[in-house]
Amino acid sequence: MSDPKPLNIGMIGYGFMGRAHTNAYCKVNHFFDLPYKPVLKAACARNEEKIKEFANNWGYESTETDWRKLLERDDIDAVDICVPNNLHHEIAIAAAEAGKWIMCEKPLAMNVAEGEEMCAAVEKAGVPNLVWYNYRRCPAVTLAKQLIDEGRLGRVFHYRSQFLQDWTISEEVPQGGAGTWRLDVEAAGSGVTGDLLAHCIDTAIWLNGPIASVTAMTETFVKERVHAETGEKTPVGIDDAAAFLARFANGSLAIFESTRYARGHKALYTLEVNGEKASLSWDLHDLHRLQYFDHGDDSVVRGWRNIHVSDGDQPYMGNWWVPGLQIGYEHSFVHTVADFLTHVGTDSPAGPTFQDALETQKVCDAILASAKSGSWSNI
Ligand SMILES: NC(=O)c1ccc[n+]([C@@H]2O[C@H](COP(=O)([O-])OP(=O)(O)OC[C@H]3O[C@@H](n4cnc5c(N)ncnc54)[C@H](O)[C@@H]3O)[C@@H](O)[C@H]2O)c1
Repeated sequence: MSDPKPLNIGMIGYGFMGRAHTNAYCKVNHFFDLPYKPVLKAACARNEEKIKEFANNWGYESTETDWRKLLERDDIDAVDICVPNNLHHEIAIAAAEAGKWIMCEKPLAMNVAEGEEMCAAVEKAGVPNLVWYNYRRCPAVTLAKQLIDEGRLGRVFHYRSQFLQDWTISEEVPQGGAGTWRLDVEAAGSGVTGDLLAHCIDTAIWLNGPIASVTAMTETFVKERVHAETGEKTPVGIDDAAAFLARFANGSLAIFESTRYARGHKALYTLEVNGEKASLSWDLHDLHRLQYFDHGDDSVVRGWRNIHVSDGDQPYMGNWWVPGLQIGYEHSFVHTVADFLTHVGTDSPAGPTFQDALETQKVCDAILASAKSGSWSNI
């Protein structure tokens, strides 16, 4: 392949995702042949000292303290939105109007209404866009998609998924502010629904097709928390835990659960799909393995196979080390960039695009509506 074209990145935010994405930009061209090469052009956040420190550490050429200034710059081709959820809508719409490519963190928006405006803005501007639902690109999950698409499971009866954490059990954890904006409904839009279930839903729709209807329950176990910015104790507006039943358009039934109150679990994301001919399951704590049961196997050796996804024939793995050597969490972001840059400008851009992520947003909104009304919500 000819030399890749430089793609100047403007990164907004330097937190968890700012680091995960920057790491991916640094690595991607070493492992994948791509038409573009990300260039760390500018990093942006409000705190000048902190953004300079981040830029120095990772090698960004310049910094900004106002994202609007970043969008005005002619030397920025693509904007990466790695800030709390309440900023996605405003920044993405302004970025689309400025003609920038947009890679936005999940959830797409605070709600469907915002998401629809974001979709309209990228469509009007005709700019490439992507939302970072990265778990699709753990090789074992991509392999699951391949097996399902090949028809190996046959008719799907059940989808089961959970995402469990335990970091907000203490009443002393504040809401709002730098580290704890996820607990503040004004910054996050929702609690575990938009934060954790959104990942489960994106993967579920990708693997098993559209979700038709849901019935949900949510709970806020700690009703008041000190707000980190004001020091005042104020009501908590997020869902601490959520569980829902769903019907997929293909007729399969599903059960989903997420909480930040499952003592002992830090990031236990699991999924299982049961089909007529086979089943598969995956667990983020063992992310390089796919469990697979094929009823077509000879009965004397039939059982769950524990597939160590590290062979060159398996998704993405031919670009890494040698068979038997596994990769990890950060590689799901490298694969996201690789796929985005491979397919940009083609008839089949890498997903999830804003429009794809809007489908997940619709399910999130339906969960919250159902939990409030106590009845089923159609998507
Ligand atoms: N794909 C995933 O697995 C995943 C994981 C974690 C977070 N996320 C998403 O990524 C986004 C960021 O989450 P995070 O964990 O990186 O948060 P974080 O708290 O670690 O970082 C947030 C960053 O936003 C910056 N920021 C806040 N307001 C700003 C403003 N007005 N202008 C510029 N910068 C501003 C902060 O300085 C900070 O650098 C959220 O939407 C979150 O849902 C996705």
